[in-house]
Amino acid sequence: MTDSQDPLIDEARSLLESAHDTASLANAKARFLGKEGALTARMKALASLSPQERAAAGKSLNLLKQAIEALVSQRQSELDQAELQARLAQEAIDVTLPGRGIGRGGLHPVTLTIERIEAIFRSIGFDVADGPEIEEDFFNFTALNTPLNHPARSMHDTFYVEGEDDAGHSLLLRTHTSPMQVRYARMHAPPIKVIAPGKTYRVDSDATHSPMFHQVEGMWIDEDVSFTDLKNVYTEFLRRFFERDDIDVRFRPSYFPFTEPSAEIDMRFADGPLAGRWLEVSGAGQVHPDVVRNIGLDPERYIGFAFGSGIERLAMLRYGVGDLRMFYENDLRFLEQFRD
Ligand code: DAH
Repeated sequence: MTDSQDPLIDEARSLLESAHDTASLANAKARFLGKEGALTARMKALASLSPQERAAAGKSLNLLKQAIEALVSQRQSELDQAELQARLAQEAIDVTLPGRGIGRGGLHPVTLTIERIEAIFRSIGFDVADGPEIEEDFFNFTALNTPLNHPARSMHDTFYVEGEDDAGHSLLLRTHTSPMQVRYARMHAPPIKVIAPGKTYRVDSDATHSPMFHQVEGMWIDEDVSFTDLKNVYTEFLRRFFERDDIDVRFRPSYFPFTEPSAEIDMRFADGPLAGRWLEVSGAGQVHPDVVRNIGLDPERYIGFAFGSGIERLAMLRYGVGDLRMFYENDLRFLEQFRD
């Protein structure tokens, strides 16, 4: 009887074929090759044979063992293959399924407000500029007529940066966007018509003040710009910003070191819930001759106006938001209302 005809082969084949996972394959394998296995038993039985018989029987038993081992490893690779196919099928991505969709995001109301302001001013010929939030003391104060010992500095409690920059300038987080007046005008020849929106910082925190907030600076310098132009430009801006015509604007005398004369701009709606109340929306004024000089122009020839408005303030009025802090809490129930 040759090895391949040994009934153990057929028995092994059918048992291995009925093993459908690694665990039952291991069991089936043990039935033949394990300590108590059929083949092992036969090996043990060799001991009782005569030396001559043992050599021949041992040889054929070895062949049988190899044949069964080959069947086991063949079955093992069939199982591995089947398992891989099953995993691939299970993890397959059906690219023909419709997408689950991701929630549509939206712009933050402060960003929307800045974009709105930029679009309006661009349409009336203003450039839009951007400047550093970590600013030199010189641009934030000194160049704006606010020297070191000037009392107006205390209106602007700010965050100072320790040490100096490489060029020896002392630095701070800008308290207003007004330094952009000087930075921009030093790089552009008149006529200068620019707005500069951006982040500003002060040591301040309550329902109407946040340590970080946004302003938009505006400046127009030419040979014959007047307060009338300022009033016209700003009134036009407000009417378009709020998309209503029932807006009155008044200039209330005020003080800023970098303008002379200086004013607060107040506005008033004729209709609606805020009707009749004057609302302060901006500082403004005629650019001080010293500032005109600081930007390198002759104050005898050039004149202009500037304004600086709080962007959150404008956003609160436009959207009817009562507490400034809501802009920064990142509560989606609030933010989602601005999604267009
Ligand atoms: N920078 C001022 C502030 O933050 C606002 C301001 C007032 C800006 C008058 C101006 C201006 O450009 O002319 O309080």
